[in-house]
Amino acid sequence: MTTTTVPVALAGRPYEVRIGSGLLASLAEQCGARLRKQVVPVVTDANVHARWGAMVEASLGAAGHTAAWLVLEPGEAAKSWSGLARVTDWLLNLGVERGDHVVALGGGVIGDLTGFAAAILKRGCKFIQLPTTLLAQVDSSVGGKTAINTPAGKNLVGAFHQPALVLADLDTLGTLPARELRAGYAEVVKYGLIGDPAFFAWCEANGAALLAGDTAAQAHAVAVSVAAKAAIVAEDEFETTGRRALLNLGHTFGHALEAETGFSERLLHGEAVALGMVLAARYSARAGLMAAAEAERVVAHFKATGLPHALPALGLNVRGAALVDHMLHDKKMDAGRLPFVLMRGIGGAFLDKAVDLADVATFLDGELAR
Ligand code: NAD
Ligand code: GLY
Repeated sequence: MTTTTVPVALAGRPYEVRIGSGLLASLAEQCGARLRKQVVPVVTDANVHARWGAMVEASLGAAGHTAAWLVLEPGEAAKSWSGLARVTDWLLNLGVERGDHVVALGGGVIGDLTGFAAAILKRGCKFIQLPTTLLAQVDSSVGGKTAINTPAGKNLVGAFHQPALVLADLDTLGTLPARELRAGYAEVVKYGLIGDPAFFAWCEANGAALLAGDTAAQAHAVAVSVAAKAAIVAEDEFETTGRRALLNLGHTFGHALEAETGFSERLLHGEAVALGMVLAARYSARAGLMAAAEAERVVAHFKATGLPHALPALGLNVRGAALVDHMLHDKKMDAGRLPFVLMRGIGGAFLDKAVDLADVATFLDGELAR
């Protein structure tokens, strides 16, 4: 399989996202002169270390490097003040300098946490993302959003800090649990719904194969997704024009569902985003922005690929108003209003800053009772 390179064209600090097979096996070669010391700091979690640690170690070793490992417990809890302190103290003890590259090997949890540690270490050192989940390959490793969670909510403390390089090794998807692969796939579909109807149609035709492990389908989906994200990030790095906010399609509804289910294994982030996109499509149809048949096409695709697509199946004992209350803690709240990403058809996402939250609550009551 050939490697696809997607440039992220940011003035002053452009970087590449390389997508392909065997990238971890050739890690030292891929990183080249970025690895300027013998010891290379690698942050990961125990699941990823068990499956991919030996390969990373061998690749670095063959080029005369030694990996220094920080292996964290898997799970969202690592994205905490204590997790951040652990990573930064460890990097300081290793003597990492501002010109050194810290390596993040794992899913979005490891990428977000390590990226934030790199953002603040000595006021900013460099880092390399080695995303090992589909979600991380198509979304979190690209674009420089880094964060931890606090008792007040998810991702509320963080920084924009771009990686120096992203290596999305598709081989790693082979060891990913099926549920995690499927959850990440929701973020792939998101790019079709935001601005690429032909890609949504491709997903309808090829999503099942991708989830069954078809590497050509995975390669295509990751490359298209990363190219879409790179274009948006290059245009609106700091989410100031509203363009980057489109990447939050499904996230406002989804966030309320994650909050209601306690950010637990009950509903993974990507699963919540799938349901959130169903709700955004149906709300758009109800507002006359999109044909009802098109909204149902979105529902049908998530149903066909085994993703959550109906609120009643979650078994929530909640009213729409309580879900809207969760939304009020969203970090996108702006002077008392919450911008929603809605759709004028598949591929026609736009930011609506005038959505009436009481109307959203009524809509959600209807969806909960469907
Ligand atoms: P994750 O990092 O928790 O990984 C999911 C699970 O898969 C974990 O148990 C992990 O150990 C395991 N795993 C990872 N790679 C594996 C592999 N190749 N083989 C076997 N097991 C593997 O979760 P995620 O879904 O990758 O990321 C979710 C996080 O990403 C959340 O914290 C979310 O806030 C964040 N996020 C950030 C952005 C951003 O722009 N920065 C965007 C979306 C999501
Ligand atoms: N994951 C949304 C963003 O990067 O903006």
